[in-house]
Amino acid sequence: MARISAIVSTLLLLFAVTAVVATSVEHENQSSSAGLFWSTAKEGGDLVHKSGDATATADDIDGGFSSLDGMLQWAIGHSDPAKLKEKAQDVKRLSPSELRQRQLEIKELMEKLKMPSDAQLMQIALDDLSNSSLSLEDRHRALQELLILVEPIDNANDMCKLGGLGVITRELDHSDSDVRKLSAWILGKASQNNPYVQKQVLEIGALATLMKMVNSSSADEATKAFYAVSALIRNNVGGQQLFFMEAGDKMLQDILSNPSVDIRLRRKAVFLVGDLAECQLENTDKAEMLFFSNSLLLKSVVDLTASGDLDLQEKALVAIKNLLQLKTTEAMVFEEFCRLGEALERMKKQLEEDHREYAIDVESLRKEVELAFQAKLENGRAVPT
Ligand SMILES: *[C@@H]1O[C@H](CO)[C@@H](O)[C@H](O)[C@H]1NC(C)=O
Ligand SMILES: *[C@@H]1O[C@H](CO)[C@@H](O)[C@H](O)[C@H]1NC(C)=O
Ligand SMILES: *[C@@H]1O[C@H](CO)[C@@H](O)[C@H](O)[C@H]1NC(C)=O
Repeated sequence: MARISAIVSTLLLLFAVTAVVATSVEHENQSSSAGLFWSTAKEGGDLVHKSGDATATADDIDGGFSSLDGMLQWAIGHSDPAKLKEKAQDVKRLSPSELRQRQLEIKELMEKLKMPSDAQLMQIALDDLSNSSLSLEDRHRALQELLILVEPIDNANDMCKLGGLGVITRELDHSDSDVRKLSAWILGKASQNNPYVQKQVLEIGALATLMKMVNSSSADEATKAFYAVSALIRNNVGGQQLFFMEAGDKMLQDILSNPSVDIRLRRKAVFLVGDLAECQLENTDKAEMLFFSNSLLLKSVVDLTASGDLDLQEKALVAIKNLLQLKTTEAMVFEEFCRLGEALERMKKQLEEDHREYAIDVESLRKEVELAFQAKLENGRAVPT
């Protein structure tokens, strides 16, 4: 514990010096951007990302460690915003030579302390999470730290190697909704465009748990769980098969056909349908999944063309366009069961009355869908099945 607080106080000092240096550099250069100061820990986080100069300065002090960003985030998480501000004010009063002296002191201190790497920071957070007597507040904090740390792909891979996926997957069953939400978010972020992590999260069996969470009465929790589900199955045929086995088509259909579901979730759901169809189209060598022969699902997508939300309508059109190109979807199902022809006519009238530029774009997409639908109908007639 003593070591940790020494690290934190060093980081605070470093943080303050870094910010002041960045501020003075900006002033000398007559930069138009406002001085870099923060009043809350959250803004401090933004500061780290925005001020490339500040990071460069700190790197110079140190002689180049790889994980300054992660360390600062970690320090911010462990610090009191009021103290942070106070330190910054103290440092601001220093003369340039005093400032340089401080920088040297920090360099020495950091060498002595051997600043932790991102992997070590993740290990600390994971150890915290495994401690059942950790307070809820500290549990949230550990998860928030991981959420940031896991962003770079190398860190996501390291977290797997540290056994982090198991730890976080267990948190999906926590009694606190925010803990579950943050854990789902971390798994989603780590899996995004990362087949290595996707595979391991799927093997642990987190997909079914996440799909249950999509039913949560908390819209935030449901949305983050859905984000994780999408990240796990995106461009991942194995994940998609598992999703189908867990009745993913029914889940999507429920979300799409229920207007009282949070709009963010409905947009994500229709986007995922389009994305899954696109993935099928790209993998022509693989047999098409039975997923899209669920005509209720297809109908729930077509029905969204009558939604009052133009964004949702547009996403539905994109999905329909992809669905029409699949071999397993039948023109007659779209025609007779989904009533796609009527839906497109209705939509045309509505868009004609909407003079926003966005509506004009959506209309040209609608027209494309209409042509694709006519082509599919022609095809169906030419080759009866
Ligand atoms: C101002 O900016 C230039 C170029 O970005 C940089 O080389 C110079 O060191 C800056 N001025 C000061 C005083 O740091
Ligand atoms: C677990 O957390 C409690 C409360 O923060 C702390 O007192 C205890 O030292 C921790 N145990 C371990 C093994 O870190
Ligand atoms: C979600 O809730 C619906 C309706 O209550 C239910 O039919 C469905 O099985 C649930 N889905 C999951 C994955 O638990």
